[in-house]
Amino acid sequence: MSVNHQTILRVDSSMRHGGSISRLLADATVSELHKNLPNSTVLLRDLTAGVGHVSSAWREARIEAPKSRSAEDRALLAQSEALGAEAESADIIVLAVPIYNFSIPAALKAWVDMVCRKNVDGATAQTKPSPKKPKHAIILLTSNHTLAGANDDFASEFLKFILIFIGFTEINVVDATGLANDKASVLANAHDKILSICQTVASHEIYAAAE
Ligand SMILES: Cc1cc2nc3c(=O)[nH]c(=O)nc-3n(C[C@H](O)[C@H](O)[C@H](O)COP(=O)(O)O)c2cc1C
Repeated sequence: MSVNHQTILRVDSSMRHGGSISRLLADATVSELHKNLPNSTVLLRDLTAGVGHVSSAWREARIEAPKSRSAEDRALLAQSEALGAEAESADIIVLAVPIYNFSIPAALKAWVDMVCRKNVDGATAQTKPSPKKPKHAIILLTSNHTLAGANDDFASEFLKFILIFIGFTEINVVDATGLANDKASVLANAHDKILSICQTVASHEIYAAAE
């Protein structure tokens, strides 16, 4: 982060556009962050555009020494390099995540595999990078029935862990799960939470920029 300038990375992982609730919550979050941090830049990463998967050729290219990589290797790695650089550049990440089959959408898992590109063949919790500066994550979690923190929620803990692993230090969750039960109150609570999280995150960023 340069003085008084933040990069906000928004990642959408719902496979629908029209009527997508996680995207509406992401709109509200990014707009609130930008209101509080008017000099910030917003990067949009919509995973419906397609994310490559780890393949045998990708793995071989990844473990090849950078200087020995062929043009084909570099082309295979280009998306993971770009997605990784985008995540590294972000001071704040807004991750909009609908629960799919009790976990995260496959496209989001593919994004994780691309961003964690340095950990081919050997990720352990101990290989977590030491963060150089505070980086904020805001997870917007939606579902119809699966409730955040319940026994059948395999999304929340993974997301919190992997965002720390990627280098984010302050993890915030907006719980908009259980939409089928009482959509109006779930959304009202989510919007209240978005306002308070965005104000806190923005004030931390402004304070850090002033230091
Ligand atoms: C493939 C698929 C799997 C889903 N699995 C679950 C699930 O396990 N539990 C649940 O409560 N809702 C499930 N849903 C519903 C979505 O979580 C819900 O529609 C979504 O959170 C709303 O966000 P969106 O409007 O941004 O897509 C699933 C939806 C899809 C498309």
